[in-house]
Amino acid sequence: MSDAIVPGSFDPPTNGHLDIIERASALFESVTVAVVINSSKQPMFTLEERVAMLQEVCAHLPNVTIGSFTGLLVEYARLRQAAVIVKGLRAVSDFEYELQMALMNRRQSPDIETVFMMTGSEYSYLSSSIVKEIARLGGSVEGLVPDSVGQHLREKARL
Ligand code: PNS
Repeated sequence: MSDAIVPGSFDPPTNGHLDIIERASALFESVTVAVVINSSKQPMFTLEERVAMLQEVCAHLPNVTIGSFTGLLVEYARLRQAAVIVKGLRAVSDFEYELQMALMNRRQSPDIETVFMMTGSEYSYLSSSIVKEIARLGGSVEGLVPDSVGQHLREKARL
């Protein structure tokens, strides 16, 4: 089996992300979780914080490493010798944007395949944005993010 890459902003990583990373790690020889550096979004967590949180929550997965990239995802995938991009799909609403990205990535680099995994139904309503909003407004994020991430979220939300 080939090596895979799981890209994203991970601002912060949620239990939905972790579900996809764990399932990818069971399917592929090695997995690189790739944190995007130059997103147009203004992140709550710095790149270093996002990488550190992912390293902590993926520590039990020996074939998973955390990296970061700027520029084209397919270039980074090539650099990591990953033949597969793994993306999670939560709902039909994700599909159009993900299809557009998958087709554009294939156009840029036909040798790299995008594979979609259905998010666990318990995470289908989960996103980093909604988790940040809940934390900012003082709600509970228990069960939505790993415990260590919840701690970081509460600290940030207090700032
Ligand atoms: O978690 P996100 O914010 O939905 O992740 C989006 C991400 C990082 C996967 C996407 O923005 C991306 O691939 N960015 C890299 C730039 C790139 O290759 N753009 C062309 C994709 S069609």
